[in-house]
Amino acid sequence: MLPRQRERCQTLEVDVFHGIREQIQTVFKHDPAAKSGLEVLLCYPGVHAILLHRFANRLYRWRWFVLARLLSHVSRLVTGIEIHPGATIGRRFFIDHGMGVVIGETSVIGDDVLLYQGVTLGGTGHGRERRHPMLGNHVVVGSGAKVLGNIELGEWVKVGAGSVVVKSVPAHATVVGIPGRVVAVKGVSVSHDEWQMLEHGELPDPVGQTLANLNERLSLIEAEVKVPDTPEPDVGTTLPSG
Ligand SMILES: CC(C)(COP(=O)(O)OP(=O)(O)OC[C@H]1O[C@@H](n2cnc3c(N)ncnc32)[C@H](O)[C@@H]1OP(=O)(O)O)[C@@H](O)C(=O)NCCC(=O)NCCS
Repeated sequence: MLPRQRERCQTLEVDVFHGIREQIQTVFKHDPAAKSGLEVLLCYPGVHAILLHRFANRLYRWRWFVLARLLSHVSRLVTGIEIHPGATIGRRFFIDHGMGVVIGETSVIGDDVLLYQGVTLGGTGHGRERRHPMLGNHVVVGSGAKVLGNIELGEWVKVGAGSVVVKSVPAHATVVGIPGRVVAVKGVSVSHDEWQMLEHGELPDPVGQTLANLNERLSLIEAEVKVPDTPEPDVGTTLPSG
């Protein structure tokens, strides 16, 4: 075996054992139903999917694309969870129940993220650039929720079950519904109006507002001031000849 290959295999071994232990601890943290390490290792499809993804992602980074894709396909057959080998996933990631989860190629997932069954981190567009979401640390995405496009969910964001999120969400917000709207920040409810005032994407536009005001005043003035009509040509008058 070449030194470079041996080095790769040794790193992989350390990563794998460390990864498995950490993954089991993560399940205990999130799932009160988990009874033993052996049960977690044998009966949690979310654990199988993420461990297989760690391998597939490594193959992908070594540019063994077909093998990487094949492994992710086998993982999908066994677990019902489809994670593209190109997806970047942080530590202590957990998919509870798992069936129907889809994670696209350019997705980026931070540490301590929790997804429930049926979640899609999907792409919009067909370009080769980033087209999937980026999830910050400690994000929770409820069952069946869809997070679509090149958007960012900040740290500690919670996405309600069944929501469809198509715009970036700032840290600590709870977003629910279709399309997703923020209903709480740091656990404190916010009304839609309050949220609009806080939302960075909807900062006031003073120039546009001034123009709109001017336009409105101009219409009022036009209505007040009688603009003289242009005199109609006298039908009976004949123009002087010559
Ligand atoms: C979004 C979620 C994290 C919010 O939890 P929370 O912080 O405790 O917030 P609340 O339950 O107080 O809900 C806040 C508001 O959002 C609404 N809401 C909560 N979840 C919602 C959802 N999935 N869809 C639509 N509205 C939702 C609530 O009715 C409430 O509205 P109100 O203020 O008008 O009464 C939680 O409701 C959720 O969906 N978790 C996912 C859990 C899951 O998928 N479990 C699967 C287990 S198998």
